[in-house]
Amino acid sequence: MNQENNNEIEELSELQELVPEESNAIELIGKDSADEKGFLLENPCTKGWLQSFEAHSMPWILLDRKLNLLWRNRAHEALYPDFRPGDNFIAYFYKYLGEEEISKIYRSLRSKEQGFSYQGRLEYKTVERAKIIANITLSPLFLEVMGKEEPVGFACHFDDVTSDIQNILRQTFKSLLEASKLKDNDTGNHIERVNAYSSLLAEYLFRKHSFPQIDQDFINDIGFLAAMHDVGKIGTPDDILNKKGPLEPWEWDIMKEHTKNGAFLLSTYPNPMAKEIALAHHEKWDGTGYPYGLAEEMIPLSARIVAVSDVYDALRSKRSYKEPISHEGAMNILKKGIGTHFDPRIGEAALQVQKNFEDIYSRLADP
Ligand SMILES: [Fe+2]
Ligand SMILES: [Fe+2]
Repeated sequence: MNQENNNEIEELSELQELVPEESNAIELIGKDSADEKGFLLENPCTKGWLQSFEAHSMPWILLDRKLNLLWRNRAHEALYPDFRPGDNFIAYFYKYLGEEEISKIYRSLRSKEQGFSYQGRLEYKTVERAKIIANITLSPLFLEVMGKEEPVGFACHFDDVTSDIQNILRQTFKSLLEASKLKDNDTGNHIERVNAYSSLLAEYLFRKHSFPQIDQDFINDIGFLAAMHDVGKIGTPDDILNKKGPLEPWEWDIMKEHTKNGAFLLSTYPNPMAKEIALAHHEKWDGTGYPYGLAEEMIPLSARIVAVSDVYDALRSKRSYKEPISHEGAMNILKKGIGTHFDPRIGEAALQVQKNFEDIYSRLADP
């Protein structure tokens, strides 16, 4: 067991002292249960249970009364491959549950009134893997042979609700996006392409370990939320949005408001990345962008990535006020903007994966 786990266990012991004793309290930690462990796994009742749940589609585990993992089925192994027999449930999921929830688990599992059981939600996330959201239920096991009124272990199942929850969240964004599409003159597949360049850049930067903020969730999120960058144009007058030829200074001032309007619209949405992108995708690395003239690291990373994607695609595309530019031409302009318009690490990354940029533009070309 590594140092980090040891520290966690120590913290757990301290934490457990905080949990009030209850009339039917059982010891969950700090007692040797080696005999019970063998007994639990070998007992005919448990054995039959283990066999029938081995290939069950839902992840199931069996814990001893100290919440050490005794057994898990294949579905659980696939979902949490690093949680191995012998590991302690609380120590393993400690940082994802939080102290308050852990106290609740202890209280519930020690309480006869609550049926020695617990129900809650676990959001598990590592740098390498995307977040897994699961509803978990811990239920007590009573073996009459042992003659105890207390659980001798716990069965726990995990209901993976990640995709359900993400679909609900995405649906809330989609309706706003659809509304904004009716209005914006950036027609065709612009937003799909900006999503694709942005997740490509994020993936590349993740593999290069360029930014510690980038993990699998960041890559998934930006690949969906980059599309939201111009939703604030819902509030921009049509004659400014569709004007052929350059805008007057006063018209520019109104046009620039789409960043703040977008942030306002997205401020109550569940993922803050959407708001960051809408607000800051026109900021520039040297501080000469808008709406606030933020510079360098003050600009949210997601917005710095979308800035590169959006500019490349805008250069390639025909707009009411301009003709399209070739891939090489667009990359040359991007290159000139490294260190002034764009974060150097992201601009350089775009040059490295430029073949993929070109492929995305052709694959998702406007009809
Ligand atoms: Fe914009
Ligand atoms: Fe755009």
